[in-house]
Amino acid sequence: MLALASDHGGFELKQAVKQYLDQKGIAYTDFGCHDGEACDYPDMAEAACQAVAGKTCERALLFCGTGIGISMAANKIPGIRAAACSDSYSARMTRAHNDANALCMGGRVVGPGLAIELVEAFLTTEFEGGRHSRRVDKLSQLEKR
Ligand code: RB5
Repeated sequence: MLALASDHGGFELKQAVKQYLDQKGIAYTDFGCHDGEACDYPDMAEAACQAVAGKTCERALLFCGTGIGISMAANKIPGIRAAACSDSYSARMTRAHNDANALCMGGRVVGPGLAIELVEAFLTTEFEGGRHSRRVDKLSQLEKR
């Protein structure tokens, strides 16, 4: 189960990604927003990220105008490792090396075709573990300081 959320700047892109997920039969919960009315990305990130941190959902797909604001909000939630990506290499490597559990995209930065490539890379790439586990563990330690 994926957790989806966006503000108004990412709403249309989220809708396009939902269409792709529906076609693929990939389950998700959309934590809002549910229309294009202006709203605040920290509010929208919170419920989706709590679902991932609480293990109700496996990973989050988050959207705002740039992908940046919502990634900043997501990374404030303990247990969330969110990456704002606009290229496939980064979307793949943030899974392989950072064990990212939230992919953030900008509706004013990437089009729907590229967004779907990013989502595919993010969903199909496994964490490599090994030396990267030590580094990801250190990220968790930073949350406790
Ligand atoms: C909203 O206008 C915009 O600031 C927001 O979607 C996001 O891009 C912030 O990082």
